[in-house]
Amino acid sequence: MPRVPRKILLNPGPATTTDTVKEALLVPDICPREKEFVQVLQQVRSDLVQIAGGRPDSHTCVLLAGSGTAAMDAVLNSVIPPEGGVVIINNGAYGQRFVDIARCYQLPFYDLHFPWGEWPDINRLRQILDEHPQISHLAMVHHETSTGLLNPLSEIAALAGEYQVSLIVDAISSLGGVPLQVREPQIDYLLSTSNKCLQGMAGLAWVICRREALEQSSRIPARSFYLNLYQQYRHFEANGQMQFTPPVQVVYALAQAIREFRQEGPEERYRRYRRNWETLMAGLQELGFRTLLPLERQSPLLTTVLEPADPQYNFDRLHDGLYERGFTIYPGKMQANATFRLANIGALVEEDIRAFLAALKEVLMELGVTVPVRYQS
Ligand SMILES: Cc1ncc(COP(=O)(O)O)c(C=O)c1O
Repeated sequence: MPRVPRKILLNPGPATTTDTVKEALLVPDICPREKEFVQVLQQVRSDLVQIAGGRPDSHTCVLLAGSGTAAMDAVLNSVIPPEGGVVIINNGAYGQRFVDIARCYQLPFYDLHFPWGEWPDINRLRQILDEHPQISHLAMVHHETSTGLLNPLSEIAALAGEYQVSLIVDAISSLGGVPLQVREPQIDYLLSTSNKCLQGMAGLAWVICRREALEQSSRIPARSFYLNLYQQYRHFEANGQMQFTPPVQVVYALAQAIREFRQEGPEERYRRYRRNWETLMAGLQELGFRTLLPLERQSPLLTTVLEPADPQYNFDRLHDGLYERGFTIYPGKMQANATFRLANIGALVEEDIRAFLAALKEVLMELGVTVPVRYQS
């Protein structure tokens, strides 16, 4: 296969993939009902349970054709009983997405809102749980990709344990990138996708479920025909197949990405991402950039950069100059601050980050922005 030109994606997924993952897309045509494909699916599902730290007897992986939002949608619409309720920790765009999904399905929910980039106030969470004993679930985003904030998962899981509520964790942009275990008490559902820290292709999402919790959800009347977690699980249990047409080639690419994740090892992937992030932070600092979050809340996966106060600075022109040089940067999502985002996940190494920093400096100077960049105060 001719080598595909390599692009450095600093958007938070779909991330840069290896040539071997790209090549894995080229497979002989196969009917997804064939045993050969069913075996690939089963392997991928059990590998994902293992990667998330689940146990084969007590956990299962429900694969869905779709992007990360499909997993968020499926889990919320499928597991919240009408007589229960879900508290949603909302401190970023993806917490807000959980809220939007809950509203769309008219679920009983509480929007526990905090400013973007701030950790949730655990006392407020405790207060809601005290006041509403019917609450059955708690939903949170592990890594808020809208800012780069890592939410305090262990602390929230401990509280969920204390109140005996079931925990739903969106680990879409963290699974495979930072240490994370679904066996953390109370995590009943952990969501992720193929195209971020696992370095596969976009098109597959999944939920790692504690079997017992999932089986209990069978009594909840279905709110969605296509994205029903229990129905999808039932099909896997019955014949190992996906209920509807899977993105066949994306499954093969994910199987290859999982092999590469195993070869590298979870600790080394984490270390590589960390090294990328440290290189990025040091380079940004040298160029005078300020970042949004204090270090204790900041993930080593994505950084929100504050835009400088220079009349020559313009995000679109910066983006375009970098894009021409093979680097993709990503706009900010915040309303309160002018920002842009840089992710350091995917098949990237420190030299890529250094090359990016050199290109960043070059484009800033080309635009006439003063380097080191300046801020108002
Ligand atoms: C934490 C998190 N949750 C959910 C999503 C939504 O995923 P998608 O855009 O693939 O639907 C994303 C996407 O970046 C994300 O980072």
